[in-house]
Amino acid sequence: MKTRRNFIKLSALGGAALVTTSCLSSDKDKSAIKTTQKTIKPIVISTWIHGMKANKAAWKVLEQGGKAIDAVEKGVMVVESDADNQSVGLGGLPDRDGIVTLDACIMDESNRCGAVACLQNIENPIAVARKVMDDTPHVLLVGEGALQFAKEKGFKPINLLTEKSKKDWEAWKIKSKYQPIINSENHDTIGMLALDADGNLSGSCTTSGMAFKLHGRVGDSPIIGAGLFVDNEVGAACATGMGEAVIRIAGSAIVVELMRNGMSPNKACKTAVNRIIKKHKDLTNLQVGFIALNKNGEFGGYSVYNGFNYAVYSKSQNEMVDAAFDRNW
Ligand code: GLY
Repeated sequence: MKTRRNFIKLSALGGAALVTTSCLSSDKDKSAIKTTQKTIKPIVISTWIHGMKANKAAWKVLEQGGKAIDAVEKGVMVVESDADNQSVGLGGLPDRDGIVTLDACIMDESNRCGAVACLQNIENPIAVARKVMDDTPHVLLVGEGALQFAKEKGFKPINLLTEKSKKDWEAWKIKSKYQPIINSENHDTIGMLALDADGNLSGSCTTSGMAFKLHGRVGDSPIIGAGLFVDNEVGAACATGMGEAVIRIAGSAIVVELMRNGMSPNKACKTAVNRIIKKHKDLTNLQVGFIALNKNGEFGGYSVYNGFNYAVYSKSQNEMVDAAFDRNW
């Protein structure tokens, strides 16, 4: 994750420059953020530079008055289908056995959600997660069951392991002798949050997970409350980085709860990151980043180490923002 640091806009204040008014509806009712006339909508934000093209696809839905849930699905699908991207979907780096396994989840404004984990051979796990949400009474399907479900829904199995990822795996095997290396260099995720013209929030999150992981390892990305959480009264958050650390603090749910209690998106992300820092004695290679978007269209991001950035598309402009961070590598 260190390598993705060359982008442009520095915004330690997150979205504060765009929207200055964030208010709780009253002391009695702190469970909802009151929207104001200054609400920025529609708006979509997503992690890393691949978020730029994902935002573009999401914006096409949002600018036509489409729903946030459709925007976040269509948006991340572009990155899943990009064979050159080695951390998400097709072309993702495999596990230590050379098998590409994918994790994804999606959540809408009514707390409906769907997820798949350890899914093989399907290019767009987010679309399968959407089907889990729309067509079943369940939230999470895993492994063989998820694949069987995807096939039943008409998804065509394909080989997800590209020549490049296969070569990288073969090279890794020589040096690493089949031991998974847990570090911050070998994976990241796309998480996306959107607020549509009707003022509804949704989010999505999808990844091939940690490269060369143990077969069957699942990170935070398909876990509702860890990799992603949406509460339409308050805001939404998603995570990238070391999934185990995010799961340990129920990261995205915590960020949303902190916003519910009055924090800005930026402060909420910072507080969650600080909790991760406090809970881990060894922070070597432990990169985690959160992004958050509230009901007013205010956004923010924060990470353990420098180098995390995210893409923001609002008012017809798509740009990168460097997240604030706790420490330098
Ligand atoms: N955050 C992605 C993963 O740990 O799998």
